[in-house]
Amino acid sequence: MDKFVIEGPTPLQGTIPISGSKNAALPLMAAAILGDSPTTITNVPKLRDIYTFNNVIRVTGCRVDFDEDEGVLTIDPKNLTHYEAPYELVRKMRASFYMLGALLGKYGEAKVSLPGGCAWGPRPVDLHLDGMREMGADIKLNEGYVIASAPEELDGGTFTLEPSSVGATVNLVLAAVLRAKEFTIKNAAKEPDVVLLCKKLTEMGADIDGIGTRTLTIRKVDSLQGITARNASDRIETGTFMIAAAMHPQSNVTLTNVDVDDLGHFPEIFRETGADITINDSTIHIKAPKQINPTSIKTKVYPGFPTDLQAQWATMMTQANGTSKVTDTIYDDRFSYVPELVRLGADIDVNKNTAHIEGKTELKGASVMSTDLRASVSLVLAGMVAKGKTDVLRIYHLDRGYEDLEEKLTTVGARITRTQQEE
Ligand code: EPZ
Repeated sequence: MDKFVIEGPTPLQGTIPISGSKNAALPLMAAAILGDSPTTITNVPKLRDIYTFNNVIRVTGCRVDFDEDEGVLTIDPKNLTHYEAPYELVRKMRASFYMLGALLGKYGEAKVSLPGGCAWGPRPVDLHLDGMREMGADIKLNEGYVIASAPEELDGGTFTLEPSSVGATVNLVLAAVLRAKEFTIKNAAKEPDVVLLCKKLTEMGADIDGIGTRTLTIRKVDSLQGITARNASDRIETGTFMIAAAMHPQSNVTLTNVDVDDLGHFPEIFRETGADITINDSTIHIKAPKQINPTSIKTKVYPGFPTDLQAQWATMMTQANGTSKVTDTIYDDRFSYVPELVRLGADIDVNKNTAHIEGKTELKGASVMSTDLRASVSLVLAGMVAKGKTDVLRIYHLDRGYEDLEEKLTTVGARITRTQQEE
């Protein structure tokens, strides 16, 4: 198992290119199965979750070719004969659950393992299943698997997502485009990942109204054709590096390959810290503030503050001058990183779904444990401003969602090495 050894504190100076988005690529990969011909996706990051999903898709008989150096991934659905996504793969990555919508949509049958929970608690899929039942599909649960079937054409209907769910929106759209006479999703997610999926499905021939709004209406078409689609840049990686660039007063960083329109309200919230940011085209320049202003933020669905940046933000607030609050309204227990930050000297209390952070605290290097993808990267951010050596253990979590992280940060002055973790 690998770990990062980080020497701090170091300022970050220079340019970091943003990679393709994991969370935008996965729905596009699932959508490729719906086509009658191959789909090519460009700007795909070389991440563990992409390789895992490639293998999930290959189980069905589809051919998947991934040129990882070019970031080009081609999926040919011609030989799809096996409508199953097995537990041993789905448990590795919950987004494999998108196979339910794709297989049910394309072939009218699917046997997909229920996804497990994750480090910070249960991740229910009731909205996915109830939405498909409303559409008219037959959904059964048996020995940890969802067994789904549907006739050539489903009547469809209307289903309201409460709460609004990215995954449920993706799965229901995938199931409906080739199968539901007319299906309306209310309170649909409108994260950029969902908007991109709907736009690309439309290019494949789908009939979807309301793209970019909270109400999507899908009308069945007879077939979809493969396309070439550019995957989005990773908005969460962008936010993560913006935060990294604000944490040391001498930092001065330029991010390139940014999809600025995907950032929602984050840039204006970020400016409250006192950081100086300049945005033009696909570039963001961040100059760290002399002192970070304390803030009070609440995560929200898009375009609000993303829950996937909550841990990174709380880490930055340990360096702010004063008391900050971070409330997660999407997941109420996504604070497993807090005890690890406390080991580094942070002063944080969690009460229900709110972290109260006292700053500025001088962080001192220590060994800390990654628990999930976004918590792990927060420990790296902390290690880069902590005095001395910080070991971040179990960084396989990081390899799921951050492409070439240590190379990118080392290029701008961080002192990070990847080594074997003593068992
Ligand atoms: C997606 O997960 C992302 N994953 C998550 O990113 C992200 O944190 C999340 O959206 C919220 O933005 C991918 O895109 C692969 P949800 P998803 O369904 O779709 C509740 C990362 O770090 N809910 O929008 O699983 C759920 O419990 C990952 O890259 C139900 O109650 O999230 C949560 O409270 C972590 N029933 C809320 O909805 C359901 O059937 C939002 O979850 C489904 C969800």
